[in-house]
Amino acid sequence: MLNIVLFGPPGAGKGTQSENIIEKYKLAHISTGDLFRKHLGEGTELGKLAQKYMDEGKLVPDEVVVGMVEDKIKETLDAKGFIFDGFPRTINQAAELDKMLTAHGLQISGMVALEVPEDELRARIKERAKTSGRVDDQDDAKITTRIRVYEEETSPVAGYYKQQGKFNGINGVGTIEGIFNQICTVIDSFT
Ligand code: AP5
Repeated sequence: MLNIVLFGPPGAGKGTQSENIIEKYKLAHISTGDLFRKHLGEGTELGKLAQKYMDEGKLVPDEVVVGMVEDKIKETLDAKGFIFDGFPRTINQAAELDKMLTAHGLQISGMVALEVPEDELRARIKERAKTSGRVDDQDDAKITTRIRVYEEETSPVAGYYKQQGKFNGINGVGTIEGIFNQICTVIDSFT
């Protein structure tokens, strides 16, 4: 089974490239940001809990995220593999993911990390805000918080996969198609 962690800061292109990867490799997409937005839209208790963290650009507590991902994995075990988008975002989440997968006889094949400079991230997020309806994306201070939270709490997750020899960095600046081709080369090296 092909199980991929697609990693990168806010606006790096994880959602965009996930769509291409899913189509080509037929993997189940587990995007924690999308799952939270779905809960928010449905007004569930989990959605209400997540909202205050998301509104502030902070991370939702690990136990909430991990429980949600665990449920999603169990629902989707017949998939050919998983692409994890926006998860894990802390070392603790990465360790919990390993435990969840091991319990099903699975493991992460590799991490693909999209590397994009901050000024480009800001430009993309602001541009996306014009059409996406993601209101926080219009607020410079909130974008700054999300980028700082990424640097401080999430970027160490790359080291977790480096230690396992599973880290693969990709230049995330360029055409969407060109970046996708680089991602495919990395994914094909996993099999
Ligand atoms: P989440 O939804 O995961 O947001 P994010 O990581 O901040 O990522 P984005 O969705 O903003 O960006 P992306 O990398 O997917 O880029 P995209 O493809 O859209 O999380 C939201 C919140 O939920 C978090 O802040 C947190 O509160 C909470 N949360 C989620 N997961 C959590 C977890 N595990 N633990 C705790 N809390 C969690 O691209 C951006 C734009 O750029 C698009 O308009 C796109 O068209 C464009 N674009 C893409 N590629 C290119 C390119 N090559 N050139 C030019 N433009 C491009």
